[in-house]
Amino acid sequence: MSFPDAAGDFSYSEHDFQRVQTIALREAGISLPVSKRSLVFSRVSRRIRATGKESFGAYLDYVSSSDGMEEMQELICVLTTNVTQFFREKSHFEHLEDHVAPHMSRTLRSGGRCRMWSAACSTGQEAWSMAMSVVDKISDAPWLDMKILATDINHSVVNFGQAGQYLAEEVQTVPDHMRRKFMEPNGVGGFRMAGEIRRLPVFKPLNLNRVWPFHGSFDVIFCRNVVIYFDDETRNALWKRLAGRLVPGGFLYVGHSERVENMRDCGLEAVAPTIYIKRA
Ligand SMILES: C[S@@+](CC[C@H](N)C(=O)[O-])C[C@H]1O[C@@H](n2cnc3c(N)ncnc32)[C@H](O)[C@@H]1O
Repeated sequence: MSFPDAAGDFSYSEHDFQRVQTIALREAGISLPVSKRSLVFSRVSRRIRATGKESFGAYLDYVSSSDGMEEMQELICVLTTNVTQFFREKSHFEHLEDHVAPHMSRTLRSGGRCRMWSAACSTGQEAWSMAMSVVDKISDAPWLDMKILATDINHSVVNFGQAGQYLAEEVQTVPDHMRRKFMEPNGVGGFRMAGEIRRLPVFKPLNLNRVWPFHGSFDVIFCRNVVIYFDDETRNALWKRLAGRLVPGGFLYVGHSERVENMRDCGLEAVAPTIYIKRA
């Protein structure tokens, strides 16, 4: 099969699509179903044009060569889907505020540390929502031993998240009192995260399906709406690794359409349909 692109300059065969499928799976753990064939065509075509390559084949040869390592990152970026929202799946933030923050407050104020992780953070709204929920309840958290790690395989969304600047329509799902408390107008019609809350999240590129270059455990992990792109084996292996990075009594939050099938194997117990606690 071959699709001419909008400019009519590339052909796209079943073999080209299968090569992209292989790369996405090998490099990111992302399974691309056949229904994504046209989407892949339009996204990869952008990179073919940007690099000046003359065909899918030439482009895919290039990214697979030692000269194409940087471009491989760009290819992975265009193959990811970065849809997100402030306070997406609100019940998770209510749970964080009502059930986790009181315990964190006691830990922090008695000199302890709290660590949270937004794994697959996209453009940062999830990590900033976690920060706002906690600081709304524990106003001195930014001065105590509290940190939020925010990671994603896509380096450009990670940079965006760290910048913490959003369009006015993107902040509509932030509760008004939090917007007033933690954001300020950025002078170009949008908002930026403002004040001490900026100390909390640290954004880094990270492929969840490779080695994680840090030690230590987390009190809270949000890993939402990313495993939907992985196959069963990759998904179950990731749940187990994430559970292994939770402190006893720590919480794992997964997307509303997701479920930790192997929760017993992971030492997890469900406290709500998409919220799990690590057993002591
Ligand atoms: C749909 S967004 C979810 C964002 C946020 N967690 C939420 O629920 O709103 C999925 C994110 O997963 C990231 N992603 C995909 N594969 C990944 C991998 N192997 N390692 C880390 N992040 C990955 C994508 O770049 C994308 O930003």
